[in-house]
Amino acid sequence: MSKPKIIVSRKWPEEVEARMQEIFDVQLNEADMPMSVERMQAALQTADAFCPTVSDKVNSEVLAVDNLKAKIIGSYGVGFNHIDLEAAKQRDLVVTNTPEVLTDCTADIAMTLLLMTARRAGEGERHVRSKAWTGWRPTHMMGAKVTGKTLGLIGMGRIARAMAQRAHHGFGMKIIFTDPYPPPADLVESLQAEARASIEAVLREADFVSLHCPGGKETYHLINKERLALMKPQSFLINSARGDVIDQAALIDALKMGVIAGAGLDVFEGEPAVPDGLLSLDNVVLFPHLGSASRETRVAMGMRVVENLELFFNGQAPRDRVA
Ligand code: DGY
Repeated sequence: MSKPKIIVSRKWPEEVEARMQEIFDVQLNEADMPMSVERMQAALQTADAFCPTVSDKVNSEVLAVDNLKAKIIGSYGVGFNHIDLEAAKQRDLVVTNTPEVLTDCTADIAMTLLLMTARRAGEGERHVRSKAWTGWRPTHMMGAKVTGKTLGLIGMGRIARAMAQRAHHGFGMKIIFTDPYPPPADLVESLQAEARASIEAVLREADFVSLHCPGGKETYHLINKERLALMKPQSFLINSARGDVIDQAALIDALKMGVIAGAGLDVFEGEPAVPDGLLSLDNVVLFPHLGSASRETRVAMGMRVVENLELFFNGQAPRDRVA
């Protein structure tokens, strides 16, 4: 029997590419250049499976392609707001993602952003590198203490829970959260966490707010000017979820005007573009979407795509079906 034909949209870790080559007839993207709409459409017309990642916009235009051959989109990444799931369903395409394997590393990055914003670590590093440092003194670069403060989580899924574990057990933080689908009671108890009835309640009370909701229409600009105004002036906002969950222009104003003390961002509206309004501010820490970017995790994400595809082509239900 001939091997299924797979087209991969970007360069993947070499172990995963080697495994793909063993079991599939795979077309890799050695040059690692983003695929245009036309190239994605050609992939859907010529392969049995197309494997995009979170930076490929597999929208209704791409999915309206004539002569569709592909049966499955095996996406590399946990988020799937880059794929129009309704359009995929209409074309009878199965869609899978890669949950679980990136939970710890993404929570680590959210915690890194929290610590860096509170303790002015990015600013401090720039200070030393620019040779501006004149030596230790009692009032130099004072930041905010983390231990014992209140962390507010918007969304309490896997990554938020892992963040809460780090914050509570590692830094003695009090955890409050809001989620329409709350976690099991024993987990809440193990974190001594407290649910709040609304996003507003979390924003008013937390010293650090960390966003852990999915991207997409329902959460677009969830954190807007009005909600930012509810946060304490000495509080910090952390986003390792999706850029457009925050109204970025409103955040820039809030950071400039001292509405909040700072922000740590791993994701941006319209990334990879990052506006000068953010680049010029010292009270914001900016990462290039590093959440899952450890070698181990990126290999595990790729292997999870491979597992989903193998199951699908063996006639079984893929493990991580989202459509
Ligand atoms: C995802 O998988 O959705 C992340 O944003 C990429 O690390």
